[in-house]
Amino acid sequence: MTERRVHVTGWGRYVPSQVLSNADLERMVDTSDEWIVSRTGIRERRVAAADETTASMAAVAALRAIRTAGIDPDEIDLILLATLTPDYWMPSTAALVKEAIGNTRAAAMDVAAACSGFVYAYASAQAWIAAGLAKHVLVIGAELLSRFLDYTDRGTCILFGDGAGAVVLSASDEPGGSLAVELTTEPQGAYMIWLPAGGAKSPPSSETIARGEHYIRMEGRETYRFATKTMATTALESVRKSGLDPSEVALFIPHQANVRIIEAVAKGLQLPMDRMYTNVDRYGNTSAASVPIALAEAVNEGRVQVGDNVTLVAFGAGFTSGAVTVNWTADPARGRDVDALVDRRDVRVRLPVDWDSVDPIPPALAELMARPGSLDVPLDDVVPGEPEPASHAPAR
Ligand SMILES: CC(C)(COP(=O)(O)OP(=O)(O)OC[C@H]1O[C@@H](n2cnc3c(N)ncnc32)[C@H](O)[C@@H]1OP(=O)(O)O)[C@@H](O)C(=O)NCCC(=O)NCCS
Repeated sequence: MTERRVHVTGWGRYVPSQVLSNADLERMVDTSDEWIVSRTGIRERRVAAADETTASMAAVAALRAIRTAGIDPDEIDLILLATLTPDYWMPSTAALVKEAIGNTRAAAMDVAAACSGFVYAYASAQAWIAAGLAKHVLVIGAELLSRFLDYTDRGTCILFGDGAGAVVLSASDEPGGSLAVELTTEPQGAYMIWLPAGGAKSPPSSETIARGEHYIRMEGRETYRFATKTMATTALESVRKSGLDPSEVALFIPHQANVRIIEAVAKGLQLPMDRMYTNVDRYGNTSAASVPIALAEAVNEGRVQVGDNVTLVAFGAGFTSGAVTVNWTADPARGRDVDALVDRRDVRVRLPVDWDSVDPIPPALAELMARPGSLDVPLDDVVPGEPEPASHAPAR
């Protein structure tokens, strides 16, 4: 039986048009263009407009990737969306994207592995296809980080930006395509980059908001140490498992967090910097979106040719890291014109129906919760708009 292989058949990216430069940040926090460029390599980043969300940016990148692949959106069997900035806790952002791209068939879910999320999602998609569970998988990395940043914290707000990237992975009997994957998770670093409040451990309250715990927090030096140590070893492991030597990889597409980290990866792999794709100067760190944005740009710029080996490698909160090596098979020219074919204004994400008019707590429940001794009332008995169960009628 021929082995079922996994090829990248489509790629696309979307970045918001609004640019936030280092000079803009100089006016907001005590920093300088010189400091930011010399420590990170970042010159500017993009910021989503008020009418944009993670889902809307993801849908544009996804439609561009689908156009590049030359398939119909309804041919997608599975949508995996990596993000740490979903539109809502639920539903998944992937579910909103599914409808926005005009797909009726796919299973859709989000993947949470922070900046490594796209590589984790890619690896999962590869496994689904190899197992025969899907033919075409849409893998997206999308982030709207500017809404989770403290613009008084110069240690974090200078680093991050917004955007989305996507690939279509397709089953094929042809040689080439995805080779080996390497994924790691090291929980010792769990609190090195994190967002303290809003989850079950620390639900949102006026106190958590007053303390700014709904913003990203980071120990920069520790994170830097982890990144420089792990990125090269993770990439190397994926390359070796693929039966290759790093010198046989034409281009590495590293997570774009900091150009100094990327330089350390090149050094660790004993390769020149021209084997590392970088665009961190223009977009900053777009977390899970950074690798697919970089991949789409590298291919569209002619940096990847048919037959090239390419290694995608990322690290992020968790700490997580991931790498996947790919033998490239798609004609790079296919993606060049798709930006003009998919306009963001043509993409619609479903909005909540009558959200403003819905009381978040049904009146009957609110009344019960206000009464002492009421919590043992089975919630099944409480139907908004229906009379209360007689046995629990308030004493008059
Ligand atoms: C954040 C980062 C750029 C900071 O660079 P650094 O060389 O480690 O700098 P330090 O944190 O040691 O700070 C050095 C000094 O610069 C100051 N500083 C921090 N941010 C600054 C800014 N934006 N502008 C000016 N000065 C700044 C610090 O307060 C410190 O001052 P001090 O020496 O008086 O205390 C770097 O640690 C980094 O890139 N870490 C990894 C972050 C990352 O990749 N996160 C995403 C993971 S997916």
